[in-house]
Formats: sequence, C-alpha cells, structure tokens
Amino acid sequence: MKAVVYTRYGPPGVLRLMDVETPAPGDGEVLVKVHAVSLNASDWETLRGKPLYSRIMGPFRPRHHILGSDIAGQVAAAGANATLFQPGEQVFADILGHMGGFAEYARVPQSALARMPAGMTYEEAACLPQAGAIALQGLAGKGQVRPGQKVLINGAGGGSGMYAVQLAKLHGAEVTGVDSTEKLEFMRSVGANHVIDYTREDFTRNGRAYDLILDLAAHRSAFACKRSLAPAGRYLYVGGSMAALFQVLLIGPLAGLSEGKKIRVLAVRLGVQHVGPIVELCQAAKIATVIDRRYRLSEVPEALRYLGEGHAKGKVVVIVE
Ligand SMILES: NC(=O)c1ccc[n+]([C@@H]2O[C@H](COP(=O)([O-])OP(=O)(O)OC[C@H]3O[C@@H](n4cnc5c(N)ncnc54)[C@H](OP(=O)(O)O)[C@@H]3O)[C@@H](O)[C@H]2O)c1
Repeated sequence: MKAVVYTRYGPPGVLRLMDVETPAPGDGEVLVKVHAVSLNASDWETLRGKPLYSRIMGPFRPRHHILGSDIAGQVAAAGANATLFQPGEQVFADILGHMGGFAEYARVPQSALARMPAGMTYEEAACLPQAGAIALQGLAGKGQVRPGQKVLINGAGGGSGMYAVQLAKLHGAEVTGVDSTEKLEFMRSVGANHVIDYTREDFTRNGRAYDLILDLAAHRSAFACKRSLAPAGRYLYVGGSMAALFQVLLIGPLAGLSEGKKIRVLAVRLGVQHVGPIVELCQAAKIATVIDRRYRLSEVPEALRYLGEGHAKGKVVVIVE
C-alpha cells in the first residue's frame, strides 16, 4: 500500500510517499481502508518533535512512522476476535495512540472504532474525533459554560476552535475568538461575537474579564491568564508552549485560589466514544464542519505545511483515493 512515512523529526521535507507492506489486523483489530483523514496540530507537533510533549512516545526518533490520527473509511478485514464490525461497514476513529492514518490502510483496535454517523461524508466524519472532543470537553465538560457567560477561545480559527466557537454560542455564551489577522473574518463567520488579532493585541492586557478561557495555543503566564478571569472564572490549558504548561501545572492550582478562580490543564479524553453529542449537533445541522482545504495522500507534506504555517481556517483533510 502507499503511505506517507517519516523516520526522524523535522520539517515536512522529511516525509516520503512510499510503498510499504499493508498491515495485517492483529487480535481484536480491524483493517480499515482509509478514505479521509483530517489533520490536527498534534500531527504537526509530532512531525517536528516540538513542543517536547510531542516526543513522549519517542524522545529521539519517532516511534510511529506514519502520522495521521483522525480517520474515516471502510472495514476491509477483521482480525481474530474482532467481531464488532463487518467488512464494508463505514467507520471512523481517533488513533492518536499509534497513528498510521496517512496511508491507504490502517490497523485499528475495534474498541477505537465507531460506525460512521448517518448522513455524514467520510471527510466530515474524519474532522470530528480530536477537534470535536477538545471542543466538547472544553466547553460542555470541564468548561461547563452557561448562557450569558463571557467565553474567550484562544486559537479559535483552527480545527478545535471552529467547533468550540459554535458550541459556546449554542450554549448561549458571548464569545471572543483570538487568532491571527487572516482568521478574523473566519472566526466571525462561525459565530464569534468579538475577535482579537493576537499579533496586535494581548488579550490578557485589554482590561476585559472572561468566565471561561479555553486556551488552544497557550503562550502566556498563569498570572497573566488569571488577570483575564472574572471572579470564579476558569482557565483551561489545552495546547501550547511547555513553559505555559508547566506554569499552569505548578502555579495554576494556587494562583487563583483566593478569588475562586480555577487555572487548570484540560486532559482531553480522546476517542470517538467521547464525541457523541457534537456528532448529533452536526447531524442536526446546528454545528457546521468547515473544511478549508482538501489534499491528496501524495500532498500530505504540503497539507501539513499549510496547517503548521498557520493558514488553515477550520479543518484540513487528506482524501485517500
Ligand atoms: N490537552 C489535551 O489533552 C490535548 C489533546 C489533543 C490535542 N491537544 C492540543 O490541542 C491544541 C489545538 O489543536 P487544534 O487541532 O485545534 O490546532 P489548530 O487547528 O492548529 O489551531 C490552533 C490555532 O491557534 C492559532 N495560534 C497559534 N499561535 C497562537 C497564539 N499565540 N495566540 C492565539 N492563537 C494562536 C493558530 O493560528 P496561527 O498559526 O495562524 O497563529 C491556529 O489557528 C494543539 O496544541 C494540540 O496539541 C491537547
């Protein structure tokens, strides 16, 4: 089969489209013919090995040589004791634990698979696993956003942000989206009431306070974030710099204590079993999946570069022919 392979951390140039052996499904596994795979910031981070947390599985060299975690496709074969899915069934999955999506076929534990939501295309279903889980748990789960609350989403123009803005609006929040200049109009188009260009304005220094800050691109100190929280407000670190992560882990729990503010890391429970509510909202057309660009398997390096250089508005999808 064809797959996009890398053996060392680096820029998109280290990726190669190659013929590799088609994997055989093991015990309890299913072989999925991949039709679509969506890109996440985690693919870009694991390609380059930056931030350091992306090297958790391979400190010096990548442990998994094929990236791509959010897939949708068809069951091609089932391994021993894999009885839940039949060949031909349409499925989707988040395989972040072992990757392998940028390929014609991927081995997937049957426990990680779910049937494709009725009425959805492969590309739509492939967009939901990771970005949908982050948005859902950031706002409806740990975030517990309520009508009338002021919510700020930092990094709102990307994949998770696109879902998070819409979800926060559905919960009746007043939403501020923060991202780069070229994404301001996009954030408005998915429902943000206010937008901030982070290249021109630091949201922690504008004097405004928010009930919830969902930080998808954290680079500021825990104290700066605390300053932007309303009384009893919550700040959730989702992704960003290691310095910001350590600050939130070490100082966060104490920083806001006296004012009832909570500064925490959101450890997202990943997997398609956690995205049911947002899948239903997409099926009911209450939330839209915005796909900025589609690429072919041979174009994965360009697709990752587009995402990594910060141009993607919403999701980027690779269609595997
Ligand atoms: N906590 C967990 O359990 C967990 C689980 C899975 C993934 N994650 C993390 O979740 C994060 C978000 O993923 P995603 O797929 O939504 O990423 P994405 O699609 O790349 O979106 C991130 C957005 O943040 C923007 N951005 C970059 N620097 C910024 C800054 N300084 N201020 C404001 N915005 C900035 C980017 O735009 P520009 O590049 O144009 O600036 C981009 O629009 C990733 O870091 C990933 O590692 C966390």
